[in-house]
Amino acid sequence: MSTIAITGASGKLGNATLTALLTHTNHPPSSIIPLTSSHPSSPTWTSLLSQNPSLQVRHATFNDPSTFEYALRGVDKLFLVSTPHVALDFEHEDGREKEDGEGREKHHRVAIDAAVKAGVGHIYYSSLAFAWNTQTQAPGSTSKAGVMRAHLRTEAYLSRLSAEGKVKVTVLREGLYNESWPLYLFGYGNGNDGGGDGREVVPVRGDGRVCWTGIKELGVGSALVVAAEDGGFDGRTVYLSSRARDARSLAEVAEVVGRVRGEGLGVRVVGREEYERYYIEERGGDRGAVRWWAGTYEAIRDEECEVDDPTLERLLASVGVKSKGVEECIAEMVKKADK
Ligand SMILES: NC(=O)c1ccc[n+]([C@@H]2O[C@H](COP(=O)([O-])OP(=O)(O)OC[C@H]3O[C@@H](n4cnc5c(N)ncnc54)[C@H](OP(=O)(O)O)[C@@H]3O)[C@@H](O)[C@H]2O)c1
Repeated sequence: MSTIAITGASGKLGNATLTALLTHTNHPPSSIIPLTSSHPSSPTWTSLLSQNPSLQVRHATFNDPSTFEYALRGVDKLFLVSTPHVALDFEHEDGREKEDGEGREKHHRVAIDAAVKAGVGHIYYSSLAFAWNTQTQAPGSTSKAGVMRAHLRTEAYLSRLSAEGKVKVTVLREGLYNESWPLYLFGYGNGNDGGGDGREVVPVRGDGRVCWTGIKELGVGSALVVAAEDGGFDGRTVYLSSRARDARSLAEVAEVVGRVRGEGLGVRVVGREEYERYYIEERGGDRGAVRWWAGTYEAIRDEECEVDDPTLERLLASVGVKSKGVEECIAEMVKKADK
């Protein structure tokens, strides 16, 4: 049986994947290697290890290639969860995107190069569910969203290595979390945790339908792809997301949030100038982050996130897991925040 290493295994997506590997596949814990940039004996791992003492937690940080080279020895498959260090992607003063090789892809290349050096056979990369091509109804290779740039650059890097026969590659474009609606409704870079600012109408830079997807479901789908031994996912780019028929626009999400809160909430699409004025001057947001994030709405408007890929639905059905819709997730989050 293959040995599987997972980066970001203490985080939301990595941990959901780790849990699903232990629950929904027949991989013994001894064949699973959670990687952490902290120390394997830190309290984060104590409870997990008490339940699964044979898990091999190893130290690996994107800041030091040698830690990955050491940690990936004897590993057959690497599930590379993208780095959380989003601020690497843009210039703080004005939101300009960094040159290729200087954004988050820099972290990913550390893990990828180390994996190739260590002889890892297959890399599964957790990308993001933008860049759906509405013309071909297939994964596209361009996006208006700055948040997708590092993913596309990483995908391209992996594709080159795969073409050179250095490693097998599978790209999982993970759906936008159900749980992440506050980020899209209230903007990035202004410290807003979803509480809103008492407004009945929030300005957004663009609107369109998004295939929101639960983190737990993404973990199950990712685990089943990584654990598959039949080669069915080799060389493929697939979306793990809910279906287009279940997509919801930001206006629809706002309506649900308002209803659950018992107060009205809507969105108003505004131009770049007004969007930046509101989030930077009125809300005190970080100039670079707000400007960089604006392209996200343009991508949503252009239907980049209205994906139609049945992969996740089929994977979940194969293990009898039901999806939670974004409405149910919003209701739970709002109730929790009210407590
Ligand atoms: N699909 C979506 O809607 C969505 C939403 C948000 C983010 N994302 C993307 O998906 C990725 C995973 O998201 P998440 O929600 O699981 O993030 P998260 O909960 O913040 O977890 C990030 C993980 O990264 C690890 N980490 C931090 N610094 C590191 C370093 N220097 N080297 C190696 N590992 C490091 C942390 O683990 P240790 O402390 O144990 O090392 C942590 O487990 C994010 O990084 C982001 O790119 C996707």
